[in-house]
Amino acid sequence: MKPLYLLLFLIAALCGNTQEKSSIHLPQDKTRYVGESSTFVIDTTFSEADSIVIEHSNKTTTLEVKPQKDTYCKTIKLDPGQNTVFVTLYKGGEVVQKSSRELYFLSELFEGIDEYELQEYDIRFFHKDEKENKCASCHNMKSNIPTNNEVLEDVTKTTCYECHNGMISTRNTHAPAANWLCTDCHNGKFGEYNMQDKGASKYLVADPVAKTCSECHEGVEEWEKSRFSHGPVNDGRCERCHNPHGSDNEFFLRKSIWNLCTTCHAEMSNGQHVIPAIGFGAPTKSGGHPTKGRDDPARPGRELTCSGCHNPHGSSGLFLLRMRGTMPYGVCQRCHKK
Ligand code: HEC
Ligand code: HEC
Ligand code: HEC
Ligand code: HEC
Ligand code: HEC
Ligand code: HEC
Ligand code: HEC
Ligand code: HEC
Repeated sequence: MKPLYLLLFLIAALCGNTQEKSSIHLPQDKTRYVGESSTFVIDTTFSEADSIVIEHSNKTTTLEVKPQKDTYCKTIKLDPGQNTVFVTLYKGGEVVQKSSRELYFLSELFEGIDEYELQEYDIRFFHKDEKENKCASCHNMKSNIPTNNEVLEDVTKTTCYECHNGMISTRNTHAPAANWLCTDCHNGKFGEYNMQDKGASKYLVADPVAKTCSECHEGVEEWEKSRFSHGPVNDGRCERCHNPHGSDNEFFLRKSIWNLCTTCHAEMSNGQHVIPAIGFGAPTKSGGHPTKGRDDPARPGRELTCSGCHNPHGSSGLFLLRMRGTMPYGVCQRCHKK
């Protein structure tokens, strides 16, 4: 090849490459999340774009590209299961570049899991020096969260706040998360179920998490030791039912109580199970005992629900029933006095 052609070839190759370079820095394709947030970091250095559009399942975010600014960060909320997120760069209304990411949000109570599809996705921890270094020119990456039981006056001053503030926006927030004492739980330690992740993130949280919860909550060990305990509690997986950061439901539950219980126990939703087994024989007029939609006589101000009769964590009574001793009728007497 003549030098001139070689030069042209090189220029062409470089130009061809520009499309590749102006792109999504984060996240990596095929990332799996346990939380609903996914952060996009987009580099516009080589694209001359004037706007960026991020879209998935009818949700659209538009970022305006400004002169002198070539890094754009945006956290979006994923839907449970598989998500395809498109990032399109525009210049004067024309598409300059279009790319996409396949992401998976594996919610603990998501019913539509496709195990086969899920195999392609990996959890990719972010908080490791080599990844953090790429952000350090603009973001302070060194934790300033007090570890000596101090409480921060102004939580917006934590280094975590700038990037994770969208997470603490639910109706009810859990005290340690709302006070940004994130490292009380995310202490980098691992548990029996995530030993393989040892050292993978500065802010790893032990799985199972029950022991971490028990540092502030009494009773956890008693539940585990109670005569009848519940599968997920026994496994130490409090996060199956509770969102450790907060949620729109009471007790930071991932779903309202009735919906939560029937996600795993669908066959109990009609209340048919309540009466026959106790020996009453005939079902009630409606065919089953009510399990919702009525006031709970034993808990003023609260609606009747599964946890009116069952203790979700553990009990001395059969079937986790809320009764003293083991007399099966004990539970009925909570609400039907005589
Ligand atoms: C009470 C304990 C606790 C506190 C406090 C807490 N977390 Fe978490 N966090 C967890 C647990 C447990 C998980 C993993 C389980 C889950 O959510 O499914 C988690 C998950 C996460 C994830 C999701 C990771 C992913 O792959 O999507 C992020 C991000 C996170 N926490 C950030 C924070 C930040 C920031 C704070 C402080 C505002 C915080 N956490 C406070 C217990 C806690
Ligand atoms: C060139 C500077 C720059 C770099 C480099 C940079 N950021 Fe940002 N980031 C910002 C600015 C400025 C904001 C505040 C929001 C805005 O003005 O866009 C921000 C906001 C964020 C947010 C909050 C977004 C939201 O929707 O609330 C996250 C998360 C974030 N950055 C993550 C990262 C990560 C991860 C990296 C490294 C891979 C990174 N950033 C690199 C400048 C930068
Ligand atoms: C520059 C932005 C940025 C800052 C500052 C930041 N994080 Fe993150 N963090 C991220 C991104 C990006 C992820 C990957 C998940 C995602 O895409 O949202 C993440 C993930 C996490 C996770 C999941 C585990 C992992 O390593 O992926 C935890 C826990 C977490 N952050 C806690 C914290 C805590 C605690 C602080 C403050 C001490 C903090 N983060 C500060 C951007 C940031
Ligand atoms: C650093 C201390 C701390 C840790 C660790 C902690 N919590 Fe909490 N939690 C609190 C405080 C403080 C409150 C608010 C006081 C209260 O209402 O009991 C609270 C409240 C709660 C409530 C609501 C209680 C109510 O009666 O309304 C639930 C549910 C809960 N935490 C679950 C958990 C779970 C699950 C974990 C482990 C993933 C956990 N907590 C870890 C401090 C902690
Ligand atoms: C099977 C789902 C489930 C699991 C797993 C679970 N919880 Fe709960 N938790 C609930 C429900 C439902 C309530 C509300 C009970 C009610 O109606 O009073 C609750 C209430 C609570 C409360 C409020 C006070 C109380 O005792 O009722 C705390 C604290 C709590 N849970 C902590 C934990 C901790 C810590 C773990 C892990 C060891 C855990 N939970 C595991 C479903 C669960
Ligand atoms: C994440 C799934 C899951 C959720 C959510 C769940 N359970 Fe369970 N539950 C199980 C499993 C698994 C078992 C069987 C293992 C065992 O016997 O503990 C079980 C067993 C039970 C039993 C029978 C215990 C026995 O001694 O035979 C009762 C009663 C029960 N659950 C009630 C509830 C109630 C009430 C709720 C809502 C507060 C609930 N469950 C939410 C998974 C779940
Ligand atoms: C009015 C009280 C009451 C309510 C409300 C109630 N249960 Fe029960 N549940 C019982 C009694 C009594 C038993 C034991 C008799 C039996 O097994 O039929 C039981 C047993 C169970 C069992 C164990 C069944 C077995 O055969 O292993 C599960 C699981 C269960 N309930 C789940 C639920 C769920 C989920 C809800 C809410 C949709 C609920 N219960 C609402 C009283 C109640
Ligand atoms: C947590 C409270 C609670 C417990 C425990 C409870 N019930 Fe009920 N029960 C109710 C409520 C609320 C109603 C609906 C009353 C109404 O609509 O006026 C009801 C209604 C009934 C009815 C009439 C249903 C109809 O359709 O007319 C029968 C029969 C009954 N319960 C039997 C039992 C038996 C047997 C037990 C013990 C296995 C039991 N209940 C435990 C709250 C409870």
